[in-house]
Amino acid sequence: MENRVVDPNNSEERGRMLGQYVMNGGQGPNSYARNSSYQGGVIDVAKPIIEEEISKRLDVKNHFSTFRIADFGCSTGNNSFAAMKIVTEAIKRKFETDGQTSQIPDFQVFFNDKAANDFNTLFSSLPPKRLYYATGVPGSFHGCVLPKASVHFAYSSCTLHWLSEVPKEVADKTSPAWNKGKIHYFGARKEVLEAYSNQYGKDVEAFLNSRAEELVAGGLMALLVPAVPAFWNPDTSYTWITEIDILGSCLMDLAEKCAPTTTSGARSYATTELRQRLRGEPWRGREIHTLKLQITMSFC
Ligand SMILES: C[S@@+](CC[C@H](N)C(=O)[O-])C[C@H]1O[C@@H](n2cnc3c(N)ncnc32)[C@H](O)[C@@H]1O
Repeated sequence: MENRVVDPNNSEERGRMLGQYVMNGGQGPNSYARNSSYQGGVIDVAKPIIEEEISKRLDVKNHFSTFRIADFGCSTGNNSFAAMKIVTEAIKRKFETDGQTSQIPDFQVFFNDKAANDFNTLFSSLPPKRLYYATGVPGSFHGCVLPKASVHFAYSSCTLHWLSEVPKEVADKTSPAWNKGKIHYFGARKEVLEAYSNQYGKDVEAFLNSRAEELVAGGLMALLVPAVPAFWNPDTSYTWITEIDILGSCLMDLAEKCAPTTTSGARSYATTELRQRLRGEPWRGREIHTLKLQITMSFC
């Protein structure tokens, strides 16, 4: 195996060094900024829903001196800026239409991602014309990253399928859940699926518990979650399983050539799973609206 010094300017390498995988930084041809139009499309689809929910549910009679918004898992910012523009403009409009123009607060946006994320690219590409003050918040969203009861609007898009770790059983050759070194679980045994599902359950619970602490009473949360339908049958529903299989086997070959291989994977889950968790503690008693698109959004 090649033994070389990690390049500190390469966010991917820096991330691996820290045991954290992040999106490719910078603005180059392989960067997340240049390869995330799909995720950008999710925000376009969600825009009218976010605007409507803010208009219907935000109580502007509460007087805010600073209105705090947090984007959990913002990456290098390109899609996040579009989302924060939609959110801040919708809130400002709500103050205006409710006759509270003189009360429009300052907006502060907390951009959160893992510490190894390329925050330099995010800060250097902030839109010059924006309605908010920008703050970077490094750290895992599976724990609290902001003070208790400090956030008025929590937002997260295309992030909740990231697991905090690969379930140990799927990499353990002696376990019935061993995934044979594969990087995905399409067509895998039910034990593999259960291992990913359990990990997802723990992670999403940790995410929701942390946001429940950070949100103010009456705060709003928008989650844009890529999801599979509850009736999804992985053996028949998607034709791209074959492509994933081919891609997975190429990556495994590559990994064997240059580094010890580990299995990785993210979990796509049924929307019902997320809804169930939003009905549990500490969310019990809060009004929750789940809207289905190709993505799922939850407003709490
Ligand atoms: C697919 S990108 C989505 C980025 C952006 N929200 C968008 O819509 O384009 C997922 C992001 O979630 C971040 N992420 C994953 N797990 C995280 C965690 N535990 N804490 C903070 N950020 C995390 C990744 O680093 C990555 O930037």
